[in-house]
Amino acid sequence: MCGIIGYIGEKEAIPILINGLKKLEYRGYDSAGLTIQNNSQLSTIKKQGKIKELEKNLKDSKSKIGIAHTRWATHGKPNEINAHPHINQNNSISIVHNGIIENHNALKELLEKEGVKFSSNTDSEILAHLISKFYKDDLEEATIKALELVEGTYGLAVINKDKEEIIVARKGSPLIIGLGEHENFVASDVPAILEHTKRVIYLDDNEIAKIKKDSYKVKHINGNYVDKEIHEIKWSLDKIEKKGFKHFMLKEIYEQPLSIKNALRGRLTDNIKLNLNFDINEIQRIILLACGTSWHSALIGKHLIEKLTNIPVEVDYASEFRYRNPVISEKDLTIVISQSGETADTLAALKKAKSKKSKTLGLINVVGSTIAREVDSGIYLHAGPEIGVASTKAFTSQVLSLALLSLQLAKGKNLPIRQDLMDEIKILPNKISEFLKEDTKIREIAKEFKDSKNFLYLGRGINFPVALEGALKLKEISYIHAEGYPAAEMKHGPIALIDENMPVVFIATKSDLSPKILSNMQEVKSRNGKIIAIKNDNDYEIKKLADYTIKVPDTLEELSPIMNVLPLQLLAYHIADLKGIDVDKPRNLAKSVTVE
Ligand code: F6R
Repeated sequence: MCGIIGYIGEKEAIPILINGLKKLEYRGYDSAGLTIQNNSQLSTIKKQGKIKELEKNLKDSKSKIGIAHTRWATHGKPNEINAHPHINQNNSISIVHNGIIENHNALKELLEKEGVKFSSNTDSEILAHLISKFYKDDLEEATIKALELVEGTYGLAVINKDKEEIIVARKGSPLIIGLGEHENFVASDVPAILEHTKRVIYLDDNEIAKIKKDSYKVKHINGNYVDKEIHEIKWSLDKIEKKGFKHFMLKEIYEQPLSIKNALRGRLTDNIKLNLNFDINEIQRIILLACGTSWHSALIGKHLIEKLTNIPVEVDYASEFRYRNPVISEKDLTIVISQSGETADTLAALKKAKSKKSKTLGLINVVGSTIAREVDSGIYLHAGPEIGVASTKAFTSQVLSLALLSLQLAKGKNLPIRQDLMDEIKILPNKISEFLKEDTKIREIAKEFKDSKNFLYLGRGINFPVALEGALKLKEISYIHAEGYPAAEMKHGPIALIDENMPVVFIATKSDLSPKILSNMQEVKSRNGKIIAIKNDNDYEIKKLADYTIKVPDTLEELSPIMNVLPLQLLAYHIADLKGIDVDKPRNLAKSVTVE
């Protein structure tokens, strides 16, 4: 996710800006840049890739004012031109922006008619030209006038070549002001400035501030001054990186309302908007390839794509596919799914599909990773860096992205629009937040089962892959043996394992197959197995049979895997934590598997 830092004071700005950007690296980015003001001139330097690249190109300067940015591509490719800051035509105004300007096409047309030439493909560049259009001698006033025309979200910082001030504004994208002695800071997030000050002001939506080295003034965009509370930050930098959570994994589980929002941003408004560079009507079959947790999301993707588009879908382990002689052609679309974008088997499988002329698409979290660069087109997950070894938020973002892709493919095939699904997707982040309040109850259940030796996870249909994912989460971080099965398969073998020592987790949320799940539960109950049921509201039949129930909010069946995996992630986390295991770094596992 994009990051902003700005400085005004008596020290040299560049080292402060660069260190600030480095503190924001954990958010993920694909390019970085900064503008400094010196002798009534603005100098802007931008580079694709890591902050190191930017650093290599910097010279010493005496500048004491600057703004800097790490960009995470939403509109336009991740390259140097699209990187921030963006400047106006006579290089007198520079801006950095987080968020999305939804009406940028209309505004661009308007400005182009007035003779403005755009140099990037970003929505953000609009802001530099708009502010410039209104600028007489008051930067704040010009910014307000520009923002009055803008629809969308922004965390914005602006400087002008002649003014010793930074203007910042916020709507829907966080911005803070850090207060120092004869110096002040702006940033999108606390870590960027924490080594300099612990005194911060959080801007609220529709507020704009003029920041000088010895003063700051915050106004509502309607012109009224606002008295802002100064907050004292009490955490250390290390704690902030885990955001106060005991483990990265827990933090990442809790980040899912946000990571889902980020996967949606700019892609689902009144309609679905994914940029795919192939014609869906030329595709006869889709092949999904991945490993581990990403393979589980691929299994869910098969359900979604086939249901929404009627296109036949095959799913394969990348490690198997790469050594087969798969029958594929240019009429196939191969979709590779990978959080890291570096998994060796997935990369090799992708290369095999390409060698057979298949079109390719990647669902990748890490921007600029090898797989992201190899595919013909891609959908970034934008889940932010996933540090815990056990994948959590990347999984739910993969499933969400597969739902968006299915909608886009259906649209391309002129199939009826699933408005209900689009509406439900939009409210999913709130439902996830609502569910996360159940966490204490799940820890209590974890206490009961932390010494179990085996677990069985059962689900049906689109939730069978969720059973597999629940079992994988448990085994990789708690070292308890666990199996995931389609519930109906139990009677073909695993039922022999059931006795009073076998916990069985049922994914039993509402679906057409609910009555069948109930009869599977009865089979377990009559053999004294311990039932933990994931269910929706008011399901009395389940309540009667289950030893423990965990309630998840109702949602459409297509999206139920996203809701249903949450309790399984938390159950695995708490069991592992109660066993004293280093949850973020379980034995023998690496975050990104770059070898066979
Ligand atoms: C499990 C897990 C792994 C990965 C697998 C693929 O929690 O994280 O199973 O899903 O190694 O990794 P990516 O998605 O990076 O290709």
